[in-house]
Amino acid sequence: MVVEYNDKGELTIGGTSLKTIAQSFGTPTIVYDETQIRTQMRRFHEAFQKSELNYNISYASKAFTCLQMVKLVEEEGLELDVVSEGELYTALAAGFDAQHIHFHGNNKTKREIQYALKSKVGYIVIDSLEEIDLINRYASEEVNVVLRLNPGVEAHTHEFIQTGQEDSKFGLSIKHGLAIEGVKKVKDAKRLNLKGVHFHVGSQIEGTEAMIETTKLVVQWLKENDIQIELINLGGGFSIKYVEGDVSFPIEDGIAEITEAIKTIAQEADYPIPEIGIEPGRSIVGEAGITLYEVGTIKDIPNVNKYVSIDGGMSDHIRTSLYDAKYEALLVNRNDPKDETVTLAGKLCESGDIIIKDAQLPSTVKRGDYLAILSTGAYHYSMASNYNQMQKPSVFFLKDGKAREVIKRQSLRQLIINDTK
Ligand code: LLP
Repeated sequence: MVVEYNDKGELTIGGTSLKTIAQSFGTPTIVYDETQIRTQMRRFHEAFQKSELNYNISYASKAFTCLQMVKLVEEEGLELDVVSEGELYTALAAGFDAQHIHFHGNNKTKREIQYALKSKVGYIVIDSLEEIDLINRYASEEVNVVLRLNPGVEAHTHEFIQTGQEDSKFGLSIKHGLAIEGVKKVKDAKRLNLKGVHFHVGSQIEGTEAMIETTKLVVQWLKENDIQIELINLGGGFSIKYVEGDVSFPIEDGIAEITEAIKTIAQEADYPIPEIGIEPGRSIVGEAGITLYEVGTIKDIPNVNKYVSIDGGMSDHIRTSLYDAKYEALLVNRNDPKDETVTLAGKLCESGDIIIKDAQLPSTVKRGDYLAILSTGAYHYSMASNYNQMQKPSVFFLKDGKAREVIKRQSLRQLIINDTK
């Protein structure tokens, strides 16, 4: 995505002035470069097509979902992962073909299982032994299931977004025998068809090593136990660039490495290569999204720190306080040099409500200016809350110089809509 200043000194994405967007639609607001989202999806497709393996790419809704996002996923020929009744509802409300939806979750409720079955989703990803009995009990016809394995592999990422390590609430442990027990149980269950296996080693992973190592372990395990399946889903977790020094997962080379490795692994294990699935979320939408804020109070504490506060905060940007995540801010309405380090803070009643601890900004930044925080397309809107009764921001898709609203800003009225009088 090209983010650059135009000759009026205004920050632009794909030629659209972000100052105009902020002025016309208010702040905070999240804007996506729609072309960039589509490009990411196409890059994954093309990389897999080159491998000549059977593949499917499903977008992990949890990164960001809404009706228009689901439509875009459909237009680009991706499948869809959902992890809750709400995500399934959103997908179906957008008219997404249920056959291409996969239902995840480590503690699916009875209602969710019944909803997934009734909607005839493509497959349900089983995350525990108990769930096998539950699905078999509620199903009235054959249902495709995929077993989520816990491979016991630790990926190098933040501990809270690691999911593949042994001590985890996700998946069935290979090492501790739960996975093989799961396979037997599924085979014994009358209405369940074991379509495949799944694993997810973690999020924001820069290299291919963890995925390749895990695939090897899983293929060996399948061969040793003589388990035939149609699909191995490698999960998501491909990294994006938040700040200088971060690496965006190199989709073309990375997928080529993974698919080549799979061919070798399968050949060495003498195991037929099944369909290969992936579930990227962050790498599809993360870098394509930018959040626009307006600057308010500036507090300069002599010899201590300078706080620049914006009109949002941890209600729409939780990742800094939750994961100590790093971001870059750019002044939107002037192209002044970044000559100062400040703390960019939110407006919520918590000292920990920080957007960027050491933000490089121009010293000219003043009340009424607009700031853009880059790479806020994944796990921002979807993790937004109403803490302090803050309203969730609006969301726009930008394409060919035009902005279309895909989510309206929450109204004050909506904040109390469920309250009884
Ligand atoms: N598949 C499964 C089974 C997952 O658990 C996840 C993410 C994904 C796919 C998509 O991963 P992605 O490609 O987006 O990294 N809130 C955290 C991220 C939690 C991710 C949980 N699972 C964050 O803001 O970094």
